[in-house]
Amino acid sequence: MSLKKAWLNINGANRMIVCEPGDNLADVLRRIGLTGTKVGCNAGQCGACTVLLDGEPVRSCIKKMDKIADFSEIVTIEGIGTPTNLHPLQKAWIALGGVQCGFCSPGFIVSAKALLDRNPSPTREEVRDWFQRHHNLCRCTGYKPLVDAVMAAAEIMRGERSADSLTATPNDNGSIYGTRFPRPSALEKVTGLSEYGGDIAIKMPPSTLHLALVMPKTDHADILSVDTAKAETMPGVVKVITAKDVQGTNFASQPQTHPRAASNGIFKPILCDKKIFRYGDVVAVVAAHSRAEARTAAKEVAVELKELPAYMTALEAMHPDAMQIHKETPNKFCMSRLQKGEDTRTVFPMAAHVVSGSFYTSSQPHLPIESDIYEAYLDGEDRVTIQCKSQALFGQIGQIAAGVGLPAEKIRLIDNTVGGSFGYTMNPTGPAIMAVCEMALRRPLVLEMSYDEHMAFSGKRTASYTNARLACDEAGKITGLEYHMVLDSGAYPMISTKVMDKCCRFVGYPYNVPNADAVLQAVLSNHTFGVQYRGFGSPQSYMSSEALMDMMAEELGMDPFEFRYINIARPGDLTVNSYPYRDYPMQEMMDILRPYYLEAKERAEKLSTDRVKRGVGLAWGGYAVSSDADAAEVELELNPDGGVTHYNSWEQMGQGADIGTLTHTVEALLPLGIKPEQVRLVQNDTAIVPNTGPAAGSRSHYMVGNATIDAANKLMTAMRKPDATYRTYDEMIAEGIPVRYKGVCSTAELVVSNDTDTCRGNASPAYNYILTLVEVEVNLDTFKPKVLSVKAVSDVGKVGNLLAVEGQAYGGFSHALGFALSEDYSDTKKHSSLLGAGIPQIKDVPDDMEFIFHQGARESGPHGSSGCAEGFQSAGHAAILNAVNNAIGVRICELPARPEKIRAAYERQQSGQKLAPASYDFSAGMYELFDHMARNPHK
Ligand code: FES
Ligand code: FES
Repeated sequence: MSLKKAWLNINGANRMIVCEPGDNLADVLRRIGLTGTKVGCNAGQCGACTVLLDGEPVRSCIKKMDKIADFSEIVTIEGIGTPTNLHPLQKAWIALGGVQCGFCSPGFIVSAKALLDRNPSPTREEVRDWFQRHHNLCRCTGYKPLVDAVMAAAEIMRGERSADSLTATPNDNGSIYGTRFPRPSALEKVTGLSEYGGDIAIKMPPSTLHLALVMPKTDHADILSVDTAKAETMPGVVKVITAKDVQGTNFASQPQTHPRAASNGIFKPILCDKKIFRYGDVVAVVAAHSRAEARTAAKEVAVELKELPAYMTALEAMHPDAMQIHKETPNKFCMSRLQKGEDTRTVFPMAAHVVSGSFYTSSQPHLPIESDIYEAYLDGEDRVTIQCKSQALFGQIGQIAAGVGLPAEKIRLIDNTVGGSFGYTMNPTGPAIMAVCEMALRRPLVLEMSYDEHMAFSGKRTASYTNARLACDEAGKITGLEYHMVLDSGAYPMISTKVMDKCCRFVGYPYNVPNADAVLQAVLSNHTFGVQYRGFGSPQSYMSSEALMDMMAEELGMDPFEFRYINIARPGDLTVNSYPYRDYPMQEMMDILRPYYLEAKERAEKLSTDRVKRGVGLAWGGYAVSSDADAAEVELELNPDGGVTHYNSWEQMGQGADIGTLTHTVEALLPLGIKPEQVRLVQNDTAIVPNTGPAAGSRSHYMVGNATIDAANKLMTAMRKPDATYRTYDEMIAEGIPVRYKGVCSTAELVVSNDTDTCRGNASPAYNYILTLVEVEVNLDTFKPKVLSVKAVSDVGKVGNLLAVEGQAYGGFSHALGFALSEDYSDTKKHSSLLGAGIPQIKDVPDDMEFIFHQGARESGPHGSSGCAEGFQSAGHAAILNAVNNAIGVRICELPARPEKIRAAYERQQSGQKLAPASYDFSAGMYELFDHMARNPHK
């Protein structure tokens, strides 16, 4: 092999490089230690790898070394600023919420530097144009804070404001609760120093082996044989691991607790040996001395298959003639019923008005910018140690231990810095594969998936099909709601029954619906399996619920705002689960939004033209904190210098586990006067922190906060002297008083689990409420809707950190926008990249986003807070679809509302054809299933 010697001027210094001519610049930079240049898509789509080449921003993952002249000048993030000498862009990124997961930050900052070098006074639109043109994608922030940061940095660089003006300071009493205090991890992220999985992979010891997955490209097949002989003789290969090497049951378990589930959930194979159930299933793993060798050999593992019919939707899989996908479990494997008030069979015939519709929500992909990268090794106590991206560190140990054949105490999970997750790393299969390989090889290991492998391997949002109808009286008061929802669980049951629970709670939320009947079914198919995703179960619910509200308003000739206003729940009204709402901020929230709504309506009327129509859409949304009896533990330790260390496993996905922990700790220890800089965070290593539970279900802020208060109270009680002053660390030690205390939060006393045959219950200790207003325009030539603005009033309790909560709001809305208009994973091959799957770029997301916080204090929440994240991604899509309908009179009922779908619907409507979709055929109707459930009571 011939190599190339090159001289490059990197960050001001001439450096000699030796590489292969076909190497890309990103890999070369990373190899010499400049890992601030991140690689996400590795295909020129995301801009994470942006560096300056002779002053021009380039995507270094697609810049080949043989195209770069000697002594070219390269600037990477390491050359922009350092922790002790930050560039104004880096300061602004930290101060204005530009950093969540931070994986995109170096690429954006380098790109922004090139913009400001050329144009010191850009407008916001010029900033957006620049990032669009230079392919900078961010999945976390919704882009607005990034534009804010560039504008602020430009002002600093022009001398119009000081960098100090960006600094958020604690309140007078030392509290940082409710402030814009920046997150502690932002500094290392904006300087490129955070170590993500791929950065650690490069820096592993020389004895490390590299893994490559063997994933046959089929949706459903019997495995006749797996022949590894040829692959095992390939250069560099050490071993090919198959199901035969698995020392446990070979199942990653997510137990099904639903009493009507026909599966106990243990049948997701870690390495498949009998069947491929979906595209992305893994049959073998090749271990070799280099990644390239492992990937080359993986192509030589011969898997002989007998293809089977592939049911890519639940509708196909539930057809009476469909074969059973899993031998042990029927395709229709679980159902629930919701029942409130009178039987709707008597309510609907009496109603003055009835509207109905059928709605589909897609398998939304999460689309983090970072792919999946794992390390595994044995630690000093012979524990199989896996460094990964996980939202449920302790939970996953429990889910994989029996499958891999290890006692739980012999498995240690550690989170790397994470480049975005949004739910999909609740799935334990990745850590399970790493544990199997580590047990087979007992060597340091690295697995780096390409982006398309990540897309195939990971689960997606559970798709849904709903037939629904709504009834109301002459005055427009809702009298009844019915829906039949089928959830497409994909190839494995996994979390389906938990999605069912959520879909029994948010259709009709937060309204007063006196009578409701519903049935929910979970169905296996050959599509990818459903997994957690921010909003979990609620976007499927609001899709029908919020469309029906608009449809009924239209039927009544009433304004959709006013229809909602008369039907929102007020004190005394019950949820569809037959319990009082935990809070009733709805009317006040609508009163706050009303003037914005009226202005938007007026604008839409005034600015609509013959060819560009404007519309306004509303949707109620919201979500719950956790579910059923939940528990979390944290620990606080007094340090010798008078500060404290906080230990927890609040998994940091970029959502703000660091700033959340810091904020709670300072607040809970206010009597001690602990300053933020005196708090050390030790998080997300199961060997050294307690079990805080998963970062899921909008639970973390609530659970960690309450547990922190408990730990803080115990610590302060131990430190308190008879004269009410506090002991120092030295005094504690001298008196033999422990300095480390565990705090616990349990919700067991606060909740009533939902009964699965009526969904009656009060299963969450706290809720949030989001009312979203969007403005869109639809061009009748392109039919591409443009979302112009979003204004939302939310109540998530007292806001702990404004930057973090706004970050969830902007980010959540941008995902909702993608869900509504572009994102898709129905085609597992075509939708395998960020752009192929429809990720919104900066010009797709409005710059005009405003979230107003109605901060009603929560009785049981820490410092009055609830949880927030998922509410912000619950119903934005429904508001957008309502706005499209308002603009051009076309209701899109099946996601995503791509231009061609809108055009076809518009043209059908213009030619006088009916638009209402036919009901989905679920083989058995809702009332039939009620009878079936009545005849077959669960034990
Ligand atoms: Fe280079 Fe995505 S554009 S990693
Ligand atoms: Fe931009 Fe996460 S902060 S991708």
